[in-house]
Amino acid sequence: MSDFNICIAGLGTVGSSLINIIEKNKNKIENRLNKKIKIVGITAKNKRKKRSFLTDNYNWYDDPLKMIKDCKPNLFIELMGYEKEISYNSIKFAIKNKVNIITANKALIAHNGNELISLAEKNQVSFLFEASVAAAIPIINTLKSMIISNKIIKILGILNGTTNYILSNMTNNNISFSEALKDAKKKGYVESNPDLDLEGIDSAHKLSILTSLAFGLNLINFNEIYREGIANIELQDIEFSKKLGLVIKLVSIVEQINNKIRLYVKPMMLNKNSRLGKVDGVLNGIQIQSKDIEDIFLEGQGAGGYATASSIISDIYDICINGYSPAFGIKFNKLKKIDKLSVNKDFNSFYLRLNVLDKKGVLAKITKLFNENNISIETMIQNPKNMKIKNNSIPLIIITHKTYLQDINNLIKKISNLLEVKDKPFFMQIYKV
Ligand SMILES: NC(=O)c1ccc[n+]([C@@H]2O[C@H](COP(=O)([O-])OP(=O)(O)OC[C@H]3O[C@@H](n4cnc5c(N)ncnc54)[C@H](OP(=O)(O)O)[C@@H]3O)[C@@H](O)[C@H]2O)c1
Repeated sequence: MSDFNICIAGLGTVGSSLINIIEKNKNKIENRLNKKIKIVGITAKNKRKKRSFLTDNYNWYDDPLKMIKDCKPNLFIELMGYEKEISYNSIKFAIKNKVNIITANKALIAHNGNELISLAEKNQVSFLFEASVAAAIPIINTLKSMIISNKIIKILGILNGTTNYILSNMTNNNISFSEALKDAKKKGYVESNPDLDLEGIDSAHKLSILTSLAFGLNLINFNEIYREGIANIELQDIEFSKKLGLVIKLVSIVEQINNKIRLYVKPMMLNKNSRLGKVDGVLNGIQIQSKDIEDIFLEGQGAGGYATASSIISDIYDICINGYSPAFGIKFNKLKKIDKLSVNKDFNSFYLRLNVLDKKGVLAKITKLFNENNISIETMIQNPKNMKIKNNSIPLIIITHKTYLQDINNLIKKISNLLEVKDKPFFMQIYKV
C-alpha cells in the first residue's frame, strides 16, 4: 500500500470528529482505499485547547501555509470556516503546490468557488466539498451523477438545520421565536454569528452550490440570491398555518424556466403532509425534480461533527480511488452563465398578517387597496380566536389568490401608510405541493 498524506486545518466540531473517525476505523478505511492514511500535519488556532483526541500524537503547526509547505501532503482538508482570509489563502497555496483539496466551507465556495475551482483544474488537483451542503446527505455526488442523464428542472430544500429546529420547536411546542432561539443556542445549534442561520445566508450559500451542480453553471454572484429570514415569524403565524393544514419552513428553491433560473431562500407555508413539510427538527431535506424521472427526495442529518466528517471520508475515498475529477462534474470552461429571473415575477398565494385598529371603515380601506392593486382575496379572518391583541390593535389575516410578489410589495407599502395599521405588515408565500 502506498502512503496517502493528509494535512488538516481546523480541529473544531468537524476536524476533531474527522480525526476520531480515522483513528477508530483506520484499518477498515485503509483496506477500502488501498492506501496507508497518514495525518502528517494538523493546525488550529489554539494549541493548548483540550480536544477529543491527543494532539501530541500529530505534528502541530501554527500556520496552515507552513504546514502545507513543510509536509507536502497529497491532500489538504480545510475546516476553519472563513469566507476568505486564511481558508482562502491556504487553499490557494495548496492548489498551487499541486495538493488536492477537501473543504466543508460553503461560504468560501459560494464566494470564491469560481476562482478556486478553475485554479484546481489548471493544476489538475481535486477540489471536493460533499460535506459543504447538508452534511451527511450525499447531495453533491447525487447531483453530479444525476445530471449526466437527467435534466433537472427544480430543487427545493430545507438546507439549514438550525432554522428548521427553531420553526419545528415553535410549531410542536407552541413557543415564541425568542424562546425557540434561546433553546437552539443552549443546544449549540446556532452559529457564532446567528444571522448566518436566521437571515438565510447559510441556506443561500448552499443553494448557490446546488444551483451550479444541478444546472452546470458557474457559481452565480452570491448577492443576486433573494433572501428572507425567519426572525419576523410570530407564534400567531405558526398557529394560523396549522389551522390551514400548513407548516412554516425556511425553503431554498432554484428552478429553471425557459433557459433562465430563479432562485431564492425564504420562509414559506407548505402543505404539512408534503415531503418537505414533514422534515422536522434539525434534519435537512432536499427534493430534486427532473424532466425524466420521478422526484428524488433525500432527508438526513444536515449538521454535526460525525455526519459532516463522514462525507469528508467519502471525498477522501473518491480522490484515492478515482483520482482527479472536475469539481462540478464537468470541465470548468464548459460551465455556463445563465440569466436570472426576478422573484418579483413569481406567482403565488400569500398569507398577510396586519395589526389594525378595531375601528369602523378600516376593512373597507384595506380591501379598496387590494382592488386597486389587482390582488384578490381568498380568505379574510378578522381577530382570529386566541390571537393576541397588541397596542389596541387586532390581527387581521388575509390569504390572497395567486399574485406577483412585486404586487404584494406595492400593496404592503400602501397598507403601511394607513394610520389604522399598526406595526409593519407581515407576509409570507404559500407553496402548496
Ligand atoms: N459543524 C457542522 O455541523 C458543519 C456542518 C457542515 C459544514 N460545516 C463547515 O465545516 C467547517 C468547520 O466547521 P466547525 O463546526 O468544525 O467549526 P469550529 O468548530 O468553529 O472549528 C473551527 C476550527 O478552525 C480553527 N481555526 C480558526 N481560525 C484558525 C486559524 N487562523 N488558523 C488555524 N485554525 C483556525 C479553530 O481553532 P481552535 O479550535 O483552536 O479555536 C477550530 O479548530 C466550516 O466551514 C463549517 O461551515 C460544519
